[in-house]
Amino acid sequence: MDSALPFTIQSASWRDVHELNKLERACFAQDAWPLIDLLGVLSFPGVIRLKAEMNGKMIGFIGGETRDRQQTGWIITLGVLPEYRRQGVAQELLRKCEAQLASARVIRLCVRVSNEGAIRLYKHMGYIQVEIWPQYYRGGEDALVLEKQIL
Ligand SMILES: CC(C)(COP(=O)(O)OP(=O)(O)OC[C@H]1O[C@@H](n2cnc3c(N)ncnc32)[C@H](O)[C@@H]1OP(=O)(O)O)[C@@H](O)C(=O)NCCC(=O)NCCS
Repeated sequence: MDSALPFTIQSASWRDVHELNKLERACFAQDAWPLIDLLGVLSFPGVIRLKAEMNGKMIGFIGGETRDRQQTGWIITLGVLPEYRRQGVAQELLRKCEAQLASARVIRLCVRVSNEGAIRLYKHMGYIQVEIWPQYYRGGEDALVLEKQIL
């Protein structure tokens, strides 16, 4: 859906690490990244890092990067604070991140097989399942690998 929420999307930086840490812990139970990985996504060269903000507060975040000589884009993390969900924030973050993965011919991501909400979002955004990686996640759950062809 198109959101009536007055949020903005802009690049994040290492200065956002504490807010991102809070968001990460609110969004991911067993899969939350440690602080060092959050600093990495906020500072490594070539990484796309976008935050959704409302009234100066981070309400969502997406990270993306290219691999395979820039041909394949990967969405490496995506989360929206629970109280701001189902208002189009993730959809808009994904759309902007895809646009910034400009050299990619295909964009991929992994998602837990049980994460029905996220899978629905990605399918809605044009991703299709291409692989299953058995026992990829902590706790032994399989990952679905989803992919979107970029024209
Ligand atoms: C998955 C997540 C990022 C979605 O964020 P969001 O801002 O609520 O998503 P959007 O509002 O942009 O959703 C767009 C569409 O995706 C689908 N969708 C999103 N979340 C859904 C859910 N929980 N159940 C069913 N469909 C869902 C719907 O089609 C939705 O459109 P609609 O609200 O008009 O029906 C959010 O729930 C989240 O942060 N979850 C925890 C972290 C996580 O699982 N991240 C993904 C890891 S791969």
